[in-house]
Amino acid sequence: ADGVVLNHLNLQSGHCVEVKAIIPEGCKGFAINLGKDHKNYLLHFNARFDLHGDTHKIVCNSKEDNAWGVEQRESFFPFQEGSETSICFKYDKDKINVQLSSGENFSFPARFPSDVISFLSLEGIQLKCLTLE
Ligand code: GAL
Repeated sequence: ADGVVLNHLNLQSGHCVEVKAIIPEGCKGFAINLGKDHKNYLLHFNARFDLHGDTHKIVCNSKEDNAWGVEQRESFFPFQEGSETSICFKYDKDKINVQLSSGENFSFPARFPSDVISFLSLEGIQLKCLTLE
């Protein structure tokens, strides 16, 4: 159930993409995927309200040739159904730094080399604004 999909984002190292979106009422989970294509994600950012046995958990992973890697879980969950959120992803070549509008941030390692992030997809949230910097 993909929402917005971009195939030619061309996000270079040192730059960031900010996703401002509405989390719908009754949201079970949403995801933002960054990478090469729908089979290769440098980062799958999955906020789980109530999904796959997780409640209120941020689960991150990579996907390479359609195979999931090892999950990374965060200790905070600053999201609310029916509200707006803004998430900044900064590509730093060997990692992606994730900055949440609530102030928390973390990084996720780039597990396969990639010159640019060309692909972005959204699942389960309604895009309001996309900014490249
Ligand atoms: C799976 C789930 C995928 C993805 C993955 C992340 O259980 O079906 O959508 O979130 O976990 O590791």
